[in-house]
Order: sequence, then structure tokens, then C-alpha cells
Amino acid sequence: MAILVTGGAGYIGSHTVAELLARGEEVVVIDNLQSGHKESLLGGKLYEGDLRDKAMLAKLFSENEIDAVIHFAANSLVGESMQKPVKYYDNNVYGTLCLLEAMEEAGVRRIVFSSTAATYGEPEKVPILETDRTEPTNVYGETKLTMERMMKWFDQVLGIKYVSLRYFNAAGAHDSGKIGEDHRPESHLVPLILQTALGQRQEIAIFGEDYSTPDGTCIRDYIHVSDLADAHVLAVQHLRSGAESNVFNLGNGQGFSVKEVITKVKEVTGVDFKVTVHPRRAGDPAVLVASSEKARTVLGWNPSRSELGHIIQSAWEWHSANPQGYGSK
Ligand code: UFG
Repeated sequence: MAILVTGGAGYIGSHTVAELLARGEEVVVIDNLQSGHKESLLGGKLYEGDLRDKAMLAKLFSENEIDAVIHFAANSLVGESMQKPVKYYDNNVYGTLCLLEAMEEAGVRRIVFSSTAATYGEPEKVPILETDRTEPTNVYGETKLTMERMMKWFDQVLGIKYVSLRYFNAAGAHDSGKIGEDHRPESHLVPLILQTALGQRQEIAIFGEDYSTPDGTCIRDYIHVSDLADAHVLAVQHLRSGAESNVFNLGNGQGFSVKEVITKVKEVTGVDFKVTVHPRRAGDPAVLVASSEKARTVLGWNPSRSELGHIIQSAWEWHSANPQGYGSK
């Protein structure tokens, strides 16, 4: 039996594919390569296509014996989602509907879903628990929450079991040095700072210094991408063991401000660079920090690469070896 990974050529998807292959799983990937990279796939069978292409999905399910799906394929930029809501509802929500429909038709009843801390919006308290209020402050988070709710009903009515993994801020790169983070254009804090350290950017902009945090900049919970990948493998095992649907946070439980991340990058790389302060970015909550106790207890998840310096070091190794991302060599 194979595991279908949608969006498997993306950043978190490709690290998860690597983890699945390392454990001897058979992997099928569907990716429209809009933001994914063929080179990031260390194995598996690739279908180059879009989830909204129903004929292609039906063909994929008929050609492979899939017993579980890990669903990454989505647009995931908070800033962009506040400018292009149609794109987010179409690709994320409608794409998920097409996938669930194809799963139902093929009789596949397990799905691990790539969700996000952005489903919470501005938290009432930190660390955030899975039972806390979900009130997204941006379109991206709203679409992911809608996708979670769809899965809840598809479970209740059709018996499709899901595990929703709400990630906090993924960063870092694979230990092998073969795969890492390459978004085009890049909008994530850690790779942007590293590109600045590499001299590819003149400066790093801090989006807002007037938040109610100790240094005025936003606080996020950074988690190593391979620790996230591990959680997906555990979630598939959990569903295969017959577990009920569930939702888990995935983070380190410790927050760092934008200024602290910049300072850490300067320390790890030994490079000094220009930092400027810009206005706030629309839709950004001030603080997002996870409680991941539930994932540790129920899934047996044990993130082993949590330290911020280690996360940045692994990302730095990838970026300095691949200054143009995939296709550098
Ligand atoms: N930031 C800057 N300057 C930049 C880029 C980002 O100050 O040039 C700030 C942002 O305003 C934010 C923080 O750095 O406060 C992190 O921003 P990212 O864009 O790296 O990440 P987000 O927190 O916006 O979003 C990420 C993922 C989402 C996920 C979310 C969960 O992109 O998919 O983490 O916390 F939902």
C-alpha cells in the first residue's frame, strides 16, 4: 500500500517524503509544481498535476493502491492571502473538496492534514491549546480552518478519519543537505534573513515594532521541518492503528521575536547586515506559541532538533551550499 502525498514537492512535503522513504514506505506524490520543485523529491512516483483536475486524481487513485493521504497541497502565505482571497479559497478549499471526493470514490479513509497556527488568529493566551478559540485574522488561516471543518463532516458522514496538524513556524533543512527551503518569491523570515546574510538582499525589514511584546516585534514558535515531518509519519501510523480523528499542535512551546531571530542569525552566520523597521504586515497576530503536549502524549512525538540555533544552522548550511535554491548546481 502506498501513501499519497499531495504537495509533496513543497518545503514541508518534500521533507516528509524523505522521512517516509527512509522508513520504507511506498510514496506517490501529486504536485502542480506551482511552488514545489521536482529536485526536492528524493524518491516516490510523481504525478505532475493539480488537485482540481478531477480526471487526473481519479486516474491516480485507480493506478495506485493508496491507504492514506498526507495533504500539503495549498497556498500558504499570510500576506498574499490578504491580497488574493479568491486564489486561496479556490486552491485550498476547492482543491481539498476535490481530494476528499476522490478519496471517497476510491474508498480511502485516512488523511493527515497540513494545518496551521493561523487557524487560531490572535490567541487569548499562550501557549495555545488545541481546544482554544479559533478565529483566524487572515484569509489563509480561514481557508485552513474551513478545510479542517470539511474533514470533520466527511468523517462524521462518510467515515474518513483525519489527523489535522497545526504547525507553527517551520524552518531549517534536512540533515542530508540535499533538500531545504526554496520559495519563489521568498516571504518567510528565516530564509529572508539568511539571504541577507549571503548578500543577496540589501537589508532585512522588520514588519512592525509596535506590537505588545517585550521588544515590540512579533513572536513566533519556530520548529525544525524534519521534526514536523516525523509527526506526519506518526500521524499516519496513528490512523492505521484505527485511532479516531484528532487535531494536534506542532511547535516547540518557546517563542522568539523577529529581533531575536535576526540576532541569532547574525550569531550563527558571523555576518552583520542592515536591519530596517517597516509598518506592520496585514493579518499578523502578535504572538503565536504552541503547547504541543497533546502531540507528545498521544502521538509519541518527540522533536529532537528544537533549539533555534540548530534550526538556523541547518537552514544556513542549505542556503550557503545552494545560494540560488534548487538548480544552484
Ligand atoms: N517578518 C518580518 N520581516 C520579513 C518577513 C517576516 O518582520 O521580511 C515577520 C512577520 O511579520 C511575522 C514573522 O516575521 O511576524 C514570521 O513571518 P513569516 O512570514 O516567516 O511566517 P508567518 O508567521 O507569517 O507564517 C508562517 C507560515 C504560515 C503559518 C504560520 C503559523 O508561513 O503558513 O507561520 O505561525 F500559518
